[in-house]
Parts: sequence; C-alpha cells; structure tokens
Amino acid sequence: RVAYVNGRYLPHADAGVHIEDRGFQFSDGVYEVVAIADGRPVDLTGHIVRLARSLRELRIAMPMPERALRLVMREVVRRNAVSNGILYIQVNRGVHRRDHPFPPAHVAPSLIMTARPTPGVSARVMEEGTAVVTVPDRRWARRDIKSVSLLPNVLAKQAAREAGAWEAWQVDGDGFVTEGSSTNAWIVTPDGTLVTRPTGDDILAGITRAALIDLARREGIPVEERAFTVEEAKRAREAFNSSTTLPTVPVVRIDDTPVANGAPGSVTVRLHDLYEAHTV
Ligand code: PDD
Repeated sequence: RVAYVNGRYLPHADAGVHIEDRGFQFSDGVYEVVAIADGRPVDLTGHIVRLARSLRELRIAMPMPERALRLVMREVVRRNAVSNGILYIQVNRGVHRRDHPFPPAHVAPSLIMTARPTPGVSARVMEEGTAVVTVPDRRWARRDIKSVSLLPNVLAKQAAREAGAWEAWQVDGDGFVTEGSSTNAWIVTPDGTLVTRPTGDDILAGITRAALIDLARREGIPVEERAFTVEEAKRAREAFNSSTTLPTVPVVRIDDTPVANGAPGSVTVRLHDLYEAHTV
C-alpha cells in the first residue's frame, strides 16, 4: 500500500507526519472519506465542494488547485489498486512549532491521502439489521465542518460497541437525535415518510444523505427534513443510518426497544438498492 504525504508517495508502513504537524498537535484540520466503486470515486464533486467549504470556514488554504487534487486522488486509488473501498483525504494547517495562533502565511497546509479496499454492507447486516444506542451529543457547535477533531465521536462509537451496538445516535439537549457518531440518522414514520434532520450547524451535511434524499424524491417516497426525537424513532416503522462507507445500514433496535417488528424495513432496502444502482 501507498500513501500520499505532502507531495510524496510513500510506502504506507513508513508514511508519517512531522511531530509539529498541526493535525497531530491541535486536530487543526479537516477530512473527507470518498467511496470508490469499480475503481471510480462516488459523488466526488460533492466531497470536493464540502472539503473546500470546511477549509474556508476554518481559514485553511486549499492545498492545491482542484484539478491537481483530483489527479492526486485518482493516483492514490490507482497505486493502491482499489476497486471497491475508500479514499481518505486530510488537509490541515501545516507544520510549525507548537503555538495556538495560526502559523505565518508561508506555512503550507499539509495534505495526506490513503486508500484501501472495504467490504461494503454485508448481506447479513441487510437481513438482520443493527442496534443503536443513544448518547448525549457532547460535540462542539460547528458539526457542519468535517473536522478531524473526533474525540466525542470516538467515545460515542466505543460506547455503542461496548453495548453490542453498531452505532451511537447522539441526542441534543431537547431529546432530538442529531446524527450517528459517523453517520446520518433516518427514520420512516408509520405513514411511510422518510425523515432526517435538516442540515445546519448541528450535523454534518452527509453526501450520502443528499444522494438518498434525491433518490427517494425521484422514486416518489415522501421526504421530510426535520428533527425527530428518540421517542418518535422508537415508534417508527423503520430506521437506518447513512454514510459514504456504508450507504444504508438498517437499524432494528434503539437502546432496548425493537423498531417495528425488529427486521429491516422495505424503504431502507429499496433505498439501498437504488443507491447501489446510483454508484455504477
Ligand atoms: N463519516 N455524520 C458524521 C458525524 C460523519 O462523520 C459522517 C461521515 C456522516 C456521513 O457523511 P457522508 O455521507 O458524507 O459520508 C455523517 C465518515 C465516513 C468517517 O468519519 O469515516
């Protein structure tokens, strides 16, 4: 395997960043995870637009022009011979002696990329579904920025794993679900409406989320972008999570409550199939 680190392609095992890298020292950076399907990036433009926005919000320079960035992305995928998997991109404020304010303007941002094959959603998960646990949302107030600062997300995911669940749904102070630790959260109401939280500062505007809304609308499935409570989710007909890595993961249990009859729902499975068709 090969990693791209600040202009060089290095063997993955030896690829490191400097100890004064601000990504390492301060989590002062942002990232993207792009799905690769049949060797090609999925919804790449959406990811690049979101990356540019995250960088702009934090006043970190784009590390290279968009066309060059696309070339490096393609090269990292090619050199790792990934046909189905993920491409990881991190941009941070660069290498400079540890000091909180921004470094001088001549310090270039760091750019790191890796790519690896991933298995995708297993048939077993699509048949049996997964459990989620609910945890308080303890993150900062700008969750729309895809920051590499993921400590609350790591703790939430670990809490899920220790409870035998796949994902943790983070809950705001009013009892509304914001999103999963690395996924957007969805329900299907008893009358068949697809519901997910609107974008804003509270959640990451998932690229998969946008694609699924689009696919659902084209299919004539009613979609409402509004917040839902844990209580409403427990009474829902279906629930699932979405992300680049696993586009639709059925949720069949929320804390100790089964969702409907405790099996993945038909809208979830339909969206999964539509999404698969969308990536080829
Ligand atoms: N996570 N919400 C959060 C907090 C996320 O970290 C992610 C993605 C999503 C889904 O966004 P998208 O559909 O664009 O992948 C929602 C990536 C995959 C990760 O951290 O590995």
